[in-house]
Amino acid sequence: MKSSLRPKKTNMKTIMLTGRGGPEVLEMTDTVKPSPQAGELLVRVSAIGINYANVLIRQGVYMGDHPLPFVMMAELEGVIEAVGEGVTGMKPGQRVTGVAARGYAEYATLRADETYLLPDDLPHGQGLLAQGLTARYLLAQAQGYRSVLITAAAGGVGSFAIQLAKQEGATNVIGLVGDKSKIGFVNSLGADHCFSYLEEGWQQLVSQATGGTGTDLILDAIGGDISTALLPQLSTNGTMITYGNTSGKPVQVDGNLLSFKAGRIKGASIMNASREDQREWFYKMIGQLKKGELKTTLTFFPFEKAVEAYRAIDSRIATGKIVLSL
Ligand SMILES: NC(=O)c1ccc[n+]([C@@H]2O[C@H](COP(=O)([O-])OP(=O)(O)OC[C@H]3O[C@@H](n4cnc5c(N)ncnc54)[C@H](OP(=O)(O)O)[C@@H]3O)[C@@H](O)[C@H]2O)c1
Repeated sequence: MKSSLRPKKTNMKTIMLTGRGGPEVLEMTDTVKPSPQAGELLVRVSAIGINYANVLIRQGVYMGDHPLPFVMMAELEGVIEAVGEGVTGMKPGQRVTGVAARGYAEYATLRADETYLLPDDLPHGQGLLAQGLTARYLLAQAQGYRSVLITAAAGGVGSFAIQLAKQEGATNVIGLVGDKSKIGFVNSLGADHCFSYLEEGWQQLVSQATGGTGTDLILDAIGGDISTALLPQLSTNGTMITYGNTSGKPVQVDGNLLSFKAGRIKGASIMNASREDQREWFYKMIGQLKKGELKTTLTFFPFEKAVEAYRAIDSRIATGKIVLSL
């Protein structure tokens, strides 16, 4: 007998990590649509924000490895399709954002208690604030700073850190970037100075920009030679916060220099921020985005073009955040 009911869609487009290395290890495939477990939401994904952690996962150098092939975790935006047992205060049709353990797909499950509701009128992709929350957390680790130096300043975390540091009253915000084509972008975010660390003599330019006294705070995610060269730029009692290592190389610490400056180097990870603080920062940032007090710069690629999106990040030319649109 012919049924008038159409079969429910049980398969979904999924991007699978099939190897370790360049963007080509990402492959489109079909997987089965998940069901929400207790305390979870099933979300129809509309946007995926690429964070540098995804690049590290792709390269196989991120903590907590998985056997191949697998679906990467993702920061995403979407609309609730179904709620699992025990979920209160959230219902189908609402717009949300969160981090899914298996996020590179048309549908994903999110833990309801780690998910944020989004206003319907927020522009597409603007709820992807993982890098903004990181910047907020990093600055909360330092008290009373007036000057701050930010590496990878045109990137996701960096572009928020510049704006938030200015909002907190920093009087001298210095951005550092690789390609000098990014300098104008960093200045447009409110930086007082911006230099390229690929250009000869950048250390002297930084030193001049601090009046020779160094900066109270350095936010660094690069490591290696650049970070080593930054340590002399710390002011007396200054702090370098190291929160990433894109160079893949260690920082050489000159103990004499550090003791002479009474300086310190501190590690920081957003994973150590409380859920309550993150929630408060998140909604404050959403309010600021809506009022135009905070800018997020998004570059969209179709979901199917994820390989190209990752190439844009690997090229180090991208500014702000790269987003996959579904
Ligand atoms: N600890 C935490 O809680 C936390 C949270 C989020 C992100 N992070 C870290 O923060 C950093 C920024 O993350 P993001 O998502 O905002 O990325 P992003 O800044 O948008 O992109 C990474 C940037 O790093 C710079 N870079 C410097 N050396 C590089 C190299 N050898 N290879 C590739 N890129 C290099 C590039 O900018 P230039 O060429 O202009 O330098 C690139 O644009 C990453 O290291 C990430 O792991 C840490």
